[in-house]
Amino acid sequence: MSHASAAQIVRELLEGPVTRPALLRWRRQQFLAKEGLGFYFGVYDSFTAAHKRLPVNEGFNNERLAVEYVEIRTRQVFAYDYPVMWWLDRAFRRGARSVLDIGGSVGVHYHAYRPYLDMPAGLAWQVVEVPAMVDLGRRLAVEREAPALSFTVDLNEAVVRHGADIWIAAGALHYMEDARPGDLLRRCMTRPQYLLLNKLPLYGGEDFVTTQNIGEGCFAPMHVFNTERLIREVEALGYNLRDRWQVHERSLYLPGYPERSFPSFTGLYFDGRS
Ligand SMILES: C[S@@+](CC[C@H](N)C(=O)[O-])C[C@H]1O[C@@H](n2cnc3c(N)ncnc32)[C@H](O)[C@@H]1O
Repeated sequence: MSHASAAQIVRELLEGPVTRPALLRWRRQQFLAKEGLGFYFGVYDSFTAAHKRLPVNEGFNNERLAVEYVEIRTRQVFAYDYPVMWWLDRAFRRGARSVLDIGGSVGVHYHAYRPYLDMPAGLAWQVVEVPAMVDLGRRLAVEREAPALSFTVDLNEAVVRHGADIWIAAGALHYMEDARPGDLLRRCMTRPQYLLLNKLPLYGGEDFVTTQNIGEGCFAPMHVFNTERLIREVEALGYNLRDRWQVHERSLYLPGYPERSFPSFTGLYFDGRS
C-alpha cells in the first residue's frame, strides 16, 4: 500500500459519521491558528455568512501579506505561469497593447514575466488591487522602473469603463464577492479580446463559498465554482475556450467534505471570436 492511499484511508475514516464532529472541531482550531496558513474551512452560502464565522481581520488589505510577493513572486515564475506567458506573448504579437490584471498584487506578473517576454512599446498594464497592495505596487514600479504599470482600487471603473485588450486574473477572482468572469464581462463597455484566468478553484460539483487562512492572522471568504458552468457563461458571450491546464501547486482539502475537495486548481484561456 502506498503512503498516499494509506493517508486517504485514514482521512476517509476520520470523515465518517462517528468521528466527523471531533474532526471538524480540531480542524477549525488548526485553521484559525498560525499553522493553518493556506488551510480551508467551512461551507457557506454567501460571503456574509462566511464573514460571520471568521475573526475580525483585514483580509488581503494588509502590507505584511505582500512580503512574499515583493521578495519572491516579482522575481520568479512558477510552472503554472508558463501557459499564461505563452498566450500573452501571442496576444502581444497580434497587436494587444493593454492588460487589465485583476488581483495582480504589487504587479507580480508584470515584474516576473518581464525578463521572459518582449513587452511591446506603449504597453499599458493596469493592476486592480486592494489599497495596501496599490500603495506598495506604485512604490515598487518606481523603484524597478516599470512605467507601463499603473494601479487602481476601483474594479468597477477598470472593468466597466477602461477597455483592455487582455484580462489576466490569477488566483484572484474567487476572493471577490461579485466577480464571476461572465458577470464582469457582461458589465464592461468594451470587452477584452483575450482572457487569461489562472489558479481558479473549479470542480465538478455545486458552487459554494468557503474560507481560507491567508496568513498574518488574516482570513478570506472565497468562491468555489462549478467548472462547466463558469466556462459556459464566458462562451455564451462569444468567447472560445482555447486552452485549459491544471495547477498542481494548488489543491483544496475541505475537512468534513471530501466531495467538495479536489487535487488541483485550473487555468483557462479564452479568446473572443473575431
Ligand atoms: C492569492 S493572491 C494572488 C496574487 C497574484 N495574482 C498571484 O497570482 O500571485 C490574491 C490577490 O487578490 C487580491 N484581492 C482580493 N480581493 C480583492 C478585491 N476585492 N479587489 C482587488 N483585489 C483583491 C489580493 O489583494 C491578492 O493580491
